[in-house]
Amino acid sequence: MSAGSSVPAEARKRAAELARIVEQHGRLYHVLDAPQISDAEYDALFRELQLLEEAYPALRGPDSPTLRVGGAVLDSLGARAHSRRMYSLDNAFSLEEWRDFVQRLGRLAPDAAPDFWAEPKMDGLAMELIYERGVLAAALTRGDGDKGEVVTENMRTVRNVPLRLAPRLGGPPDLLEVRGEVVITRADFAALNSRRLAAGEKPFANPRNASAGSVRQLDSRVAASRPLRFLAYGVGRVEGAAPWATQGETMLGVRDLGLQIAPGACLLPTADDVEAWFQELAARREDYDFELDGGVVKVNSLALQERLGHTARAPRFALALKFEALRARTRLLDITVQVGRTGALTPVALLEPVNVGGVTVSRATLHNEDEIRARDIRLGDTVFVRRAGDVIPEVLGPVEEARTGEEREFRFPEVCPECGEPVSRREGEAVRRCLNRLCPAVRRESVRHFVSKAGLDIQGLGSKWIEQLVNRGLVASPADLFRLTGEDLAGLDRIGDKLAANFLQAIAGAGRSATLPRLLRALGIRHVGAQTAAALARAFGSLDALAAAPAEALLRLPDVGPEVAGSVADFFAGEGNRTLLRDLRALGIWPVEKTALTPPGPETRRGKQLGLDMAAPAAAGPLAGLTILFSGSLSGLTRSGAERLAEEAGARLASGVSRRLDILVAGDSPGSKLDKARALGTRILSGEEFLELLGRNGFREEKEEG
Ligand code: IVH
Repeated sequence: MSAGSSVPAEARKRAAELARIVEQHGRLYHVLDAPQISDAEYDALFRELQLLEEAYPALRGPDSPTLRVGGAVLDSLGARAHSRRMYSLDNAFSLEEWRDFVQRLGRLAPDAAPDFWAEPKMDGLAMELIYERGVLAAALTRGDGDKGEVVTENMRTVRNVPLRLAPRLGGPPDLLEVRGEVVITRADFAALNSRRLAAGEKPFANPRNASAGSVRQLDSRVAASRPLRFLAYGVGRVEGAAPWATQGETMLGVRDLGLQIAPGACLLPTADDVEAWFQELAARREDYDFELDGGVVKVNSLALQERLGHTARAPRFALALKFEALRARTRLLDITVQVGRTGALTPVALLEPVNVGGVTVSRATLHNEDEIRARDIRLGDTVFVRRAGDVIPEVLGPVEEARTGEEREFRFPEVCPECGEPVSRREGEAVRRCLNRLCPAVRRESVRHFVSKAGLDIQGLGSKWIEQLVNRGLVASPADLFRLTGEDLAGLDRIGDKLAANFLQAIAGAGRSATLPRLLRALGIRHVGAQTAAALARAFGSLDALAAAPAEALLRLPDVGPEVAGSVADFFAGEGNRTLLRDLRALGIWPVEKTALTPPGPETRRGKQLGLDMAAPAAAGPLAGLTILFSGSLSGLTRSGAERLAEEAGARLASGVSRRLDILVAGDSPGSKLDKARALGTRILSGEEFLELLGRNGFREEKEEG
């Protein structure tokens, strides 16, 4: 820090001390995720430093943490040459192409038996940070590879970028150029976009655009307000110290100096290991906090890297293994509006069919009318579509350059497209709803949900059948399912006696074996998923007790907030729902939780409910009082079947791996849950062990339900 001579020694000493403490706690918070002081304490230290620097501007060096809030506003971004070219990467789109790459390595360096350094390929903006004598002196975008834009002020605001490298024996390298990617996590991206929507601004199409847009700003306060992170993947020029011999050593060295490196980076001894690693990475790409578009594999030895050299475009020692694209471009042909079981109207894009990562997509969600307007999506537009894991495909936004002028604005309907009744939009909500409880769409969707996996999981009764049943007036509510006769079903298209009998058997079976938590979920009360349903069932024991429960009793449950309490109350107040419950009771579909914490029945005394210990064990059974979670596919057992068995055995279903989880049942490809459970020392069972524990060895779901 270069302080002018007019600064009192005391102030200089305190400023240096504050800068060190503030940076240290910033790092604990942003890099290590392990804060040691409260936000208020941090703010007070930060403020003290700011005031000192305002009084004595000479105290504000290039590594002052106060630079992190931004402030400098430039007329334009300058350009500067990279001391070493920033190359791009060659891509492989299959493991075949990876094997070709390995063969080529063998030809170019026949005597070498290379090992590899592998990292996820992060989808953000390439960046070079230049540290001179340990202090961040400049930051450059990749630009054309030879010359980049100078974005130093903006990168100083990125919280996980050290402004000064961590002190190490022998001092910092004279010069260190660290290269990496500027990214935004998915969660931060979603929050950023909702803030923009709320402020009437256009949302970013993807995290990459958001990163690039935030870094290439003239006003560094804008960059400071964006949740950017820098993840290192390599170095440029290095002078003085740092005797690194491999890519792995380099990255660990860079990490040791205080930079964050790509998560999941690892050393792989052979080319075969790379294949296994990549398959695993592809299977788990959704588990990463930020978007990946593949993996990057580099020859580990720096000497061999040097020997292999570069082509004009890319290094010969590295390869990007790309995932199948989950994003594609296509045309928006039309927009239809769907009515859900809560009456919510959802706009759905009808697309020219397009292949997205191996799946043909012809419909995608547009979320709601505000999103359509904010993203300025028009009928006839060329649009980007994204598919992620099991999530419904979504339209990201239009390709404005592709517009012809023929595109038309979409007008959201004022009446329900199914029943023609006017729709309404509640204050503060983004959706319009059809409030007509006789609306055929609302009925159909409620029944569909009731029989679905998330409901009673009635096998075989798919959407096509439900549609016929509702359209023919045979079923208007879930209760009607249990009144169906063979004669009713005989009138349906493409149904035989056998199938009809199977349906009736499946419906009756599901009704008989419905547990209270399952039935609660099946009723489709807004915001009541598996975990909440289980908690409600355990606490109240019956639908009567739950219906009679005052809001305070609900709010005492750990899983229940005002929103859930409100929708439970709304549900039981609805006349149609009360009729449904009366019908279900009359049909004998009225499960009670025998070992619930409150005696069921309308006569339940409310005061007594309020004094409950909600954490007491649920039911008697081999898994009584234990929390369980399933992950991966279990052979011979569906997820919902397994969950039902677990609930019947007294277990409580967990929503994720945490210290409170007692058992993780891991099937095939269990994903990151297994790693987390291992790390926490959670008991892990295979599917077979789980069944053994329940005394149901050799259990096969098909047989049980047949
Ligand atoms: S290495 C010498 N490693 O991908 C090789 N690049 O498509 C230089 N990228 O411009 C790049 N994650 O911005 C490397 N783990 C990673 C990466 C990565 C993302 C970006 C990088 C590069 C682009 C090439």
